[in-house]
Amino acid sequence: MDVQQTAMQSKIIGVVQLKGGAGRSTIATNVAAALSQQFPVTLIDCDLPQGTSASWGAIRAENGRMGNLHIATASDHRELIDKVREFSRTQAFILIDGPPRVAEITRAILVMSDLCLLPLGASAAEIWALSDLYATIDEARRDRYQADARIVWNRYRKQTRSAREFSDAVQEEMALPQLQSHLSFRVAYSDVLARGLWVGEWHDQTAKSEINALTAEIAACLGAGPSADILSGSRRIK
Ligand SMILES: Nc1ncnc2c1ncn2[C@@H]1O[C@H](COP(=O)(O)OP(=O)(O)OP(=O)(O)O)[C@@H](O)[C@H]1O
Ligand SMILES: [Mg+2]
Repeated sequence: MDVQQTAMQSKIIGVVQLKGGAGRSTIATNVAAALSQQFPVTLIDCDLPQGTSASWGAIRAENGRMGNLHIATASDHRELIDKVREFSRTQAFILIDGPPRVAEITRAILVMSDLCLLPLGASAAEIWALSDLYATIDEARRDRYQADARIVWNRYRKQTRSAREFSDAVQEEMALPQLQSHLSFRVAYSDVLARGLWVGEWHDQTAKSEINALTAEIAACLGAGPSADILSGSRRIK
């Protein structure tokens, strides 16, 4: 796979999980929109033909809300690699919403990403799906050792015993770090997805704080704190 030669100037954030409905599009759309408040961002939807992120972007565009956010699609790994190469010249961040299956495109996302987010809910089915993905992540690490993949807990209920037990089990079984920020179950997440909005444009302050905290933590992992002056002048928004 000719991805390592790709000139990557953008920070690339993949969102991957093999279990459908885990929250990939929720995280991809909200984090992309949050980052685009300060930076040029492209969100590439690879989960076709479903295209949740692309549909969300189309509603957003109709409502004149694109700002610094650009939406693209890629139906296979070659198209994805070409688009990442193209957009990495101009974008500060590229987010990739992955498909719920192990395929060349999932491997390409893992290898190209500076940081891969793995949404996970406290359910056995999601944890089984993650352990399948874990083998693929291990393989990707052989291709590009620094591939950084981290779990993001979604629909998290921190008071519950099962949430703690799942978190401990994942920690024991998989050598995958977990981000501290997590998303709890909030109707706001489905309300905004359907309207082409992100939670920063909605009235649920808890959801907004969760996404802002997650975005700041992601940016810190990438050495790109939103206020940090790490981007070259040509890519910074004037
Ligand atoms: N934390 C949350 N609280 C409430 N609803 C949520 C939360 N996370 C996701 N959802 C809802 O669950 C559904 C599935 O989430 P999402 O589309 O983000 O998952 P996905 O992994 O992209 O799924 P798919 O396989 O369909 O692409 C959506 O309707 C979304 O609005
Ligand atoms: Mg999706």
